[in-house]
Amino acid sequence: METVTRAEALRARIAAWRRAGARIGFVPTMGNLHAGHYSLIAIARARAERVVASVFVNPTQFGPREDFASYPRTLAEDQAGLAASGCDLLFAPEVEEMYPFGTSGGVRVEVPGLGDVLDGAARPGHFAGVATVVTKLLNLVQPELAVFGQKDYQQLLVIRRLVADLRLPVEIVGAPTVREANGLAMSSRNQYLSAEERERAGVIHRTLRAMREAVLAGRTVDTVEQEAMRALAAAGLVPDYAVVRRAADLTAPDPGVRTGLIALIAARLGRARLIDNLLIDDADQ
Ligand code: PAJ
Repeated sequence: METVTRAEALRARIAAWRRAGARIGFVPTMGNLHAGHYSLIAIARARAERVVASVFVNPTQFGPREDFASYPRTLAEDQAGLAASGCDLLFAPEVEEMYPFGTSGGVRVEVPGLGDVLDGAARPGHFAGVATVVTKLLNLVQPELAVFGQKDYQQLLVIRRLVADLRLPVEIVGAPTVREANGLAMSSRNQYLSAEERERAGVIHRTLRAMREAVLAGRTVDTVEQEAMRALAAAGLVPDYAVVRRAADLTAPDPGVRTGLIALIAARLGRARLIDNLLIDDADQ
């Protein structure tokens, strides 16, 4: 597997594959790869002849007090893991390559509404940063399909919306969440947790399951959300939100509706801010 750092080299490699008739699958990441990321590579591998991944810690999606500087960077390990998982090409650019006009002066892509609620409210500007870098990456790679994890459900919706609105000719594939044995969704930020905190963080997935059961049993959304906040706080987490929303657009559900919903949680534990979600009408998650 080759690693390229320049847009021009990336385009040249991909153009050669395309001339040979290959379908391109793309998996964008911020690196520090784990089994969740590699599951996306496997999905791309199964659906395309060539797989391109990117590793880029995108500065514009981090707030001024967030962990951009300390975000784990492990490029050598990531390269080895990607090569072993059947990735054909890694794009690992410097910040200047992605933002030739600077990180504040360049073109920005905003997704109003979807990008402003929940994590968008807790992290102002976050989804504009994600939408901007994903638009740039999709434009560079021009893949037939790109794979994103459902673990970052709001991000997946934001990306689906930008692709639909900008009419980008790419299929967005959503991939199931890969979890630890205790239900904790795998995340690069889990390494901010001690062994004891990692165990305790299993409460997030247990609470999501309890939210799903309670909604399906006919409890009101308000009650379900309040109980979830209490369960998270009782385990020593500091919840940002624990909500039930419409899976299609993250708006509040109509009373009595029990299908097409999703439970979402964001909570702080130690140094980490953890997010997870569970679809409510999907029995096998
Ligand atoms: P990152 O957090 O590195 O995640 C890259 C991709 O891996 C995302 O699509 C994310 O949803 C997926 N992923 C993370 N943990 C997962 C898990 N446990 N199971 C399945 N998939 C998982 O998300 C980003 O980077 C960035 O915002 C990015 C889209 C690359 C833009 O900068």
